[in-house]
Amino acid sequence: MAQLWGGRFTKETDKLVYQFNASISFDRRFLQQDIEGSIAHVVMLAKQGILTIEEKDKIVKGLTGIREDVENGTLKITEEYEDIHSFVEANLIERIGDTGKKLHTGRSRNDQVALDMRLYVRMEVLHVDELLQELLETLLKLMEEHLDTYMPGFTHLQKAQPVTLAHHLGAYFEMFKRDRLRMKDIFKRMNFCPLGSGALAGTTYPLDRNYTASLMGFEGPTLNSMDSVADRDYVIEFLSALSTIMMHLSRFSEEVIIWNSNEYRFVEIDDAYSTGSSIMPQKKNPDIAELVRGKTGRVYGALVSILTTMKGIPLAYNKDMQEDKELTFDAIDTVKGCLALFNGMMKTMKFHEDVMAKSAMNGFTNATDAADYLVGKGVPFRDAHSIIGQLVLYCIEHNKSIEELELSELKQISPVFEADLYDAVSLKTCVEKRLTIGAPGQKAMKEVIARNRKYLEEDWRAFETGEIAQLK
Ligand code: ARG
Repeated sequence: MAQLWGGRFTKETDKLVYQFNASISFDRRFLQQDIEGSIAHVVMLAKQGILTIEEKDKIVKGLTGIREDVENGTLKITEEYEDIHSFVEANLIERIGDTGKKLHTGRSRNDQVALDMRLYVRMEVLHVDELLQELLETLLKLMEEHLDTYMPGFTHLQKAQPVTLAHHLGAYFEMFKRDRLRMKDIFKRMNFCPLGSGALAGTTYPLDRNYTASLMGFEGPTLNSMDSVADRDYVIEFLSALSTIMMHLSRFSEEVIIWNSNEYRFVEIDDAYSTGSSIMPQKKNPDIAELVRGKTGRVYGALVSILTTMKGIPLAYNKDMQEDKELTFDAIDTVKGCLALFNGMMKTMKFHEDVMAKSAMNGFTNATDAADYLVGKGVPFRDAHSIIGQLVLYCIEHNKSIEELELSELKQISPVFEADLYDAVSLKTCVEKRLTIGAPGQKAMKEVIARNRKYLEEDWRAFETGEIAQLK
């Protein structure tokens, strides 16, 4: 048991207590962040004359050595250390001797862990944003290819009006675009450095917090030392945004599962993204979409868990906050995995355009357009609605669609119908006449696609990373 705080104790910690308290099994993920933060800290200490240049150089060399040795496998992170901070410090002292004992000058594990978590989450915000961008690229490409792939649009899962596949996918494009905007917002709000806040009340050493912050690419230091060690708002915001991503992916998965069913046959999921049944040889199941839908629950769980953990914690640091990590890590891994797999599934999915168009033709998706046709001929809308209602009833009784009726049959219901009705209610007309921005008509869709293309070309992630990050 390697602890940083034995001095005041006369007894060994109980073994179970030690295990219960330890976080090394999961915060070992912070190795990079912990070392980056320590390097920034000692570089600043040397600039302020708190450490000599020689001491700083020795410590930096020791720290980078630890990182290299863990990476090449010669140094193992083992459970004999309480947490990653103890692991790094103990190894540093072992490596460079007494100078290593100066690393923690003017620092507490409270501001240290606050920094590590921030650096880690900041990095993952960028990774998630990247995966979202890749999914958006896939969707936009599909949209460009399917501007005239007609399909039914639904409300209440009942066929409503015809749309195009481009239009339907465009709805998801907007959702994932908002998810990316959330990443950008979170990044901006969280990009302040807590290091230098000490345990809760700052330190008596003349630290230059502005300098430390700039070394790690932060916009500046956080402005209240108690808040700095007690704040996990950015984790909550991130988990909330991740939950929203999962909600979007889950809705999309649900649709893919429906579209892929034998009854719909709108799409066929590629063999590489489907699985079989152990007993029913004919089966090809949409397991990936189902798993994405299913995993949504655990990401929501992480959000509710951290909200609950934080709600009763008095200022400043309390050990409850160690609970911020495991679920956050799990949520990040889950979302990244789901985004990557979903993207792969979409890229390889086959769309049965003929089945979609046929489905759009059945189910009276052109009934609104038929009513609008009558309005165009001077019939008030409410009357037109009622006439088309009778027409639909007639069609159901005779098992025909509107466009399959003879003109004579149409005229029996209303003398206003003429031969131009057929063109007015064709699938193509129904879609192509919808040209307001945001509607499925080709001209409108093309403009939306052009705007979204431009949006995808902007890269907000190209930010100033700071000197220490460049050293890596
Ligand atoms: N493992 C701890 C955490 O994750 C690190 C901070 C420990 N600080 C302390 N005062 N015990 O929060």
